[in-house]
Amino acid sequence: MNEMTPPKAERAAALKGLGTERKRVEDARFTQGKGNYVDDIKMPGMLFGDFVRSPYAHARIKSINAEKALAVPGVIAVLTADDLRPLNLHWMPTLAGDVQMVLADGKVLFQGQEVAFVVAEDRYIAADAVELVEVEYEELPVVVDPFKAQAEDAPVLREDLEGKMEGAHGPRRHHNHIFTWEQGDRDATDSVIGSADVVAEEMVYYHRTHPCPLETCGCVASMDKVNGKLTVWGTFQAPHAVRTVASLISGIAEHNIRIVSPDIGGGFGNKVGVYPGYICSIVASIVTGVPVKWVEDRMENLMATAFARDYWMQGKIAATKDGKITGLWCHVTADHGAFDACADPTKFPAGFFNICTGSYDIPTAYLAVDGVYTNKAPGGVAYRCSFRVTEAAYFIERMIEVLAIELGMDAAELRAKNFIRKDQFPYQSALGWEYDSGDYHTAWDKALKAVGYKELRKEQAERVEAFKRGETRKLLGIGLTHFTEIVGAGPVKNCDILGLGMFDSCEIRIHPTGSAIARLGTISQGQGHATTFAQILASEIGIPADDITVEEGDTDTAPYGLGTYGSRSTPVAGAATAMAGRKIRAKAQMIAAYLLEVHDSDVEWDVDRFVVKGAPERFKTMKEIAFAAYNQAIPGLEPGLEAVSYYDPPNMTYPFGAYICVMEIDVDTGEWEIRQFYALDDCGTRINPMIIEGQVHGGVTEALAIAMGQEIAYDDMGNVKTGTLMDFFIPTAWETPHYTTDHTVTPSPHHPIGAKGVGESPNVGGVPAFSNAVHDAFRPFGLKQAHMPHDHWRIWKIAHDLGL
Ligand code: CDP
Repeated sequence: MNEMTPPKAERAAALKGLGTERKRVEDARFTQGKGNYVDDIKMPGMLFGDFVRSPYAHARIKSINAEKALAVPGVIAVLTADDLRPLNLHWMPTLAGDVQMVLADGKVLFQGQEVAFVVAEDRYIAADAVELVEVEYEELPVVVDPFKAQAEDAPVLREDLEGKMEGAHGPRRHHNHIFTWEQGDRDATDSVIGSADVVAEEMVYYHRTHPCPLETCGCVASMDKVNGKLTVWGTFQAPHAVRTVASLISGIAEHNIRIVSPDIGGGFGNKVGVYPGYICSIVASIVTGVPVKWVEDRMENLMATAFARDYWMQGKIAATKDGKITGLWCHVTADHGAFDACADPTKFPAGFFNICTGSYDIPTAYLAVDGVYTNKAPGGVAYRCSFRVTEAAYFIERMIEVLAIELGMDAAELRAKNFIRKDQFPYQSALGWEYDSGDYHTAWDKALKAVGYKELRKEQAERVEAFKRGETRKLLGIGLTHFTEIVGAGPVKNCDILGLGMFDSCEIRIHPTGSAIARLGTISQGQGHATTFAQILASEIGIPADDITVEEGDTDTAPYGLGTYGSRSTPVAGAATAMAGRKIRAKAQMIAAYLLEVHDSDVEWDVDRFVVKGAPERFKTMKEIAFAAYNQAIPGLEPGLEAVSYYDPPNMTYPFGAYICVMEIDVDTGEWEIRQFYALDDCGTRINPMIIEGQVHGGVTEALAIAMGQEIAYDDMGNVKTGTLMDFFIPTAWETPHYTTDHTVTPSPHHPIGAKGVGESPNVGGVPAFSNAVHDAFRPFGLKQAHMPHDHWRIWKIAHDLGL
């Protein structure tokens, strides 16, 4: 270096690379109304589709008469299953190996099911015509309870499967049974539980809820009959997978299909699956030869599009008298609704629920999951969750609390006693996972200290005494959680969706003037990939993040990838980005050595340049190297500076966290107030601390919603009782408390930059923290278990039932 060279730290800071609180580059667009969402797409001659939906949860369709609808000026067509049958598109495959009706074929199986698709010149005309389609229904008995659905005399829901005793995931033992999935050692677990000092048993229900993204699902399908090319702009979390599936279903060659995910207003798993609206829009565009837009409204989204959770989890946890856990047993009844449309990797019909031993060193465990059909909407998607991890974390964190009650032990102490120790990593869990890294005790101690745990317990005890003396009607709950996530699906050998291995990708092109474009197989839905992936690259290749464009979501240009959900972007595509960056750097090293007239091994990397070893005044910056790649004929090297990486991770990453919620509860009104919420996350190497904080704030707020009120509830007739935002709880600034965020850093040993995912952690850890706070407030009065969501009425009912 010469005296003109800025110091290392200054050059590194200018890159805005790893660890920088770089402002989100996408926000200038979003905050100034310059985003480009699906509903912003307007094309000449575009038509609009809208659905006739079933008012019944279970009914036979006797007739559909579209005459009056077709007579409305501007209505072009009304599609029914009979129109799709000749194309074999009246049913479609689901991501879970089942099939699903695109339009009702003979009967309907849930309220809001798609019955007919009206295509019109105008969205309002389509909506008016929907009202005029006459459908004659014959009501059938409804089953919304997954336990009743398994009774011998329960009505047969899926007549198409009658007599089929083998499903996509093994044998079916009843006409409404989908699969049984078992993990772990049943006999050993039975034996440990049978001879344990202490066994706590509980039914833990994680209710049905919904991702409810700000933007609902939709698409614009445009068939160019001249060029034979189908383009679909849609709210897709996995555009490449959609292209492949669309090709397989339609028979259109894959290179003639272009899928584009423009800006997406939140996904949360809701936009992973394939919905009837996509198929109907594509068919309508192929038939009419003009673009067709379909965008669902809020009620349609809540009623019919991909619910989440609905897991009944029966658990037994065994321990010694002094609180060492010896075994865990779990049986899940999973309500999948009318079709098995869960979005899980193929080999995992209950997702990664087998992470349910959580953060604890539990030597023996057994898990069985039974999937069941009911007259409810299909889905079972990972709502800000890595494939049922949220359910698993809630289950184990409730079981720990129940065990603490049984043992008469402090729940924080019980956790610490059973954590997997730092020296046990990589840790092989009893249910099959290899945890990559962790330091739970350090995180836990930090969390307890930060909230003043001992003082809080003292205050709580005093409050209970004051309550008993009649001096207050408010209780204090301390909700503890230590969660372990499993994100980054995943190793291709374990994880595929419809046979597509779950790798991901990044392609980088460095321009001659030293700026760059990186394209990835993932797609941001608000997570800020354009900001953070540029930061990974900045640190890898020494080009400022501000000079790197990140592009995602167009299958004509992006390399093949499996998309964004399950916090997989950083663990998989983030790794691909680092690896592609390293390929660029390897070529840049050869170019630098050539320009400096030394051997390749005589130069070394220094932040943003290659320097001759021992002669720091001799160097070539990445900017110089980029230009040389395009204007020098370098012997033995192709011109240009580009690289692509398809990354198959060797393992998942296992982020973890310690969350503590302090809650005041008014026993007379059931009202709650969050006094303190502390969230410590460890996601390994932190790319952008500010974005991580934003992810945590958003995820904990969603967790607050789920735990304290959000629910898709049905009555006995299968009517959705919470199909609007009047009934479906979305927290506003009024309900949302202040959060204190914190972190420890335990890098992933196998990820190129040591990063783990973070997007879902706050939802995974938040729900048990809020729920445990409610339970904890009532623990001194004998409460063991109460089902979520803990809305005011349910909390009041707990107090009432306890005689408070
Ligand atoms: O797959 P998804 O983008 O939903 O989740 P993620 O990989 O956990 O990333 C969410 C956001 O947090 C992205 O912008 C990441 O780059 C960022 N992040 C980070 O800054 N540091 C980490 N260790 C993990 C994620």
